[in-house]
Amino acid sequence: FRQIKVDEDDFGLMTYDPGYTNTASCRSAITYIDGERGILQHRGIPIEELCEHSTYLEVAYLLIYGHLPTEEELSRWVYDITHHTYVHENIKSFMDGFRHDAHPMGILLASVGALSTFYPEASDIDDEEQRNMAAIRLIAKMPTIAAFAYRHSLGLPYVYPDNDLSYTGNFLSMLFKMAEPKYEPDPRLEKALDILFILHADHEQNASTSAVRTVGSTRADPYTAVAAGVAALYGPLHGGANVAVLKMLQRIGSVENIPDFLETVKQGKERLMGFGHRVYKNYDPRARIIKSHVDEVLEATGKESPWLDIAIELEKRALDDEYFTSRKLYPNVDFYSGLIYEALGIPTEAFTVMFAIPRTSGWIAQWMEMLRDPELRIARPRQIYTGPRDQRYVPMSER
Ligand code: ACO
Repeated sequence: FRQIKVDEDDFGLMTYDPGYTNTASCRSAITYIDGERGILQHRGIPIEELCEHSTYLEVAYLLIYGHLPTEEELSRWVYDITHHTYVHENIKSFMDGFRHDAHPMGILLASVGALSTFYPEASDIDDEEQRNMAAIRLIAKMPTIAAFAYRHSLGLPYVYPDNDLSYTGNFLSMLFKMAEPKYEPDPRLEKALDILFILHADHEQNASTSAVRTVGSTRADPYTAVAAGVAALYGPLHGGANVAVLKMLQRIGSVENIPDFLETVKQGKERLMGFGHRVYKNYDPRARIIKSHVDEVLEATGKESPWLDIAIELEKRALDDEYFTSRKLYPNVDFYSGLIYEALGIPTEAFTVMFAIPRTSGWIAQWMEMLRDPELRIARPRQIYTGPRDQRYVPMSER
């Protein structure tokens, strides 16, 4: 572009692409999506295979280091993560300072940002050992902070990590353990949560990952970059959509009200939350997998979801409706995930936190890949200026 611009009066050439619909901000070998065909692969492995055969921590390793770990690499990785789950007591005190009704995402955002002050050595981002250490700490501590935020909102004492449990079993323990000496997680719920975590681990250059890369491109430390990801995920059009879906289903209230609700969506008065995606113009493969696990979670918890019938009927009607099919609007990852979180007993406000925990591995993988990129430059988009120029300053008395 510099060569096209011949002199300083020449504007040159600029791409104007609101929302970056058609702009690749980087090259990446982590996650492949074919939105037309509904395909998602991590390091070339289909998401369906990973959900069937792998675990969340193994997928995290795959995303970050580019290959499936050997047995030894995996056991070392799991050991390291399991032994970094505790947070500094001052982080705990910091969290105590929030109002009792503080939003868990607000607490998570602030606490992850605060971690950088506890590990100042992480700002040496050229040191590979420090980068690996930050990866372990972030993946290990995210569930602890999330669970503490949840317990804080209930006024319950924090439950410290139990290193004998699996990654998801420990998280369930930190959330739900009451008086008994040891929390025994239901293996069916541990497994279902692990699959949900795999499904949320990475999704190439979505808004939160782009935020991590943007902040990371300034050479900020990884905790600060990941805090930017948490901030971007907070919004209802991104990670907050799973909350919006449940609220929408509750508002619809019963199957009979679906036609009226769809009418208001078609009139443009509101959106069908959990539908539509910037990249998928087909059924989101993650939504298909989540949907297939809703029943088994309900069976394990012994609960009935009053919202499941509404969701299934809503999907059926929308997929029969020309408004949605012509715009290629299909269920996305958030359409059914909230139903599982609710069945697990997780309060609605904490749903987005459930997304942030596993997405941490994707954020770190993308941040590390970015740092290795020889073409890395600070993310600094341009603009098309539309305001006035060469104005005079008007003194206060003349305004
Ligand atoms: N309900 C109704 N109409 C919709 C929806 C929806 N959920 N999504 C898109 N549309 C319509 C738009 O009104 C527009 O119609 P038009 O051409 O008549 O104006 C058309 O489909 C294209 O929509 P855009 O907003 O241009 O699509 P974009 O790619 O910018 O937005 C997004 C993608 C934000 C995900 C959008 O589909 C949406 O808001 N969905 C609901 C929120 C949601 O579920 N978010 C989670 C996404 S997945 C994730 O973050 C993990």
